[in-house]
Amino acid sequence: MVDKDVVRDGYDELADAYAAQREAVGDGIDALAALLATLPSDARVLDAGCGQGVPVLERIESAVTGVGADISRGQLALAAENVPDATLTQADVTRLPFADDAFDAVTAYYSLIHVPEGDHQQVLDEFARVLRPGGRAIVIEGTNEWRGSNPDWLDSGTEMQWHIVGPEATREQFRTAGFEIREERVVGSSLDEEGDWQLFVAEREA
Ligand SMILES: C[S@@+](CC[C@H](N)C(=O)[O-])C[C@H]1O[C@@H](n2cnc3c(N)ncnc32)[C@H](O)[C@@H]1O
Repeated sequence: MVDKDVVRDGYDELADAYAAQREAVGDGIDALAALLATLPSDARVLDAGCGQGVPVLERIESAVTGVGADISRGQLALAAENVPDATLTQADVTRLPFADDAFDAVTAYYSLIHVPEGDHQQVLDEFARVLRPGGRAIVIEGTNEWRGSNPDWLDSGTEMQWHIVGPEATREQFRTAGFEIREERVVGSSLDEEGDWQLFVAEREA
């Protein structure tokens, strides 16, 4: 079972170690570029679980208005350095402190995978709530259902925990939240072997 305090404290501790090995290559950034190309310059995009702000929030902010939310203050401190013009908020993705219909798009790269069992539907419900009708969400999940922890993630001596519900459950949860899935494919990541991650682009029903 994922403990949010362990995840938050872990990302506070791991902020530099995680940032050091996070690379943009091959991890679905092309989907973000395609989405940003469809948005007007006054659009607002939420990066949910923005981490250190690179490579996702910085790309958002360079095209439109970027808002980053993360549970970890350590990650947000790095994001403030990396993307100084973005608005940053400490928040849990299961309870977003934003109004209904506040965003044109939402991104969640590798953050849904840290949400405790039973909370994933609530996150997608929150994405639907804060998105305007027709707004899109990009989410990266795992290709296989898996839950576990690593007491020494990235050789940092810090524990990290995951609960990956897998593509089938994610598909169903998107539909329950009122999304239509527009694109779904396997992408690689610098964090693990290629093929461990599944990218979804989903559109909130109008
Ligand atoms: C693997 S990192 C991904 C960061 C960034 N999106 C990226 O692509 O590099 C996961 C991020 O999700 C955040 N996170 C985990 N659980 C969260 C929650 N319940 N609410 C908000 N952020 C959360 C972590 O603090 C961490 O910054």
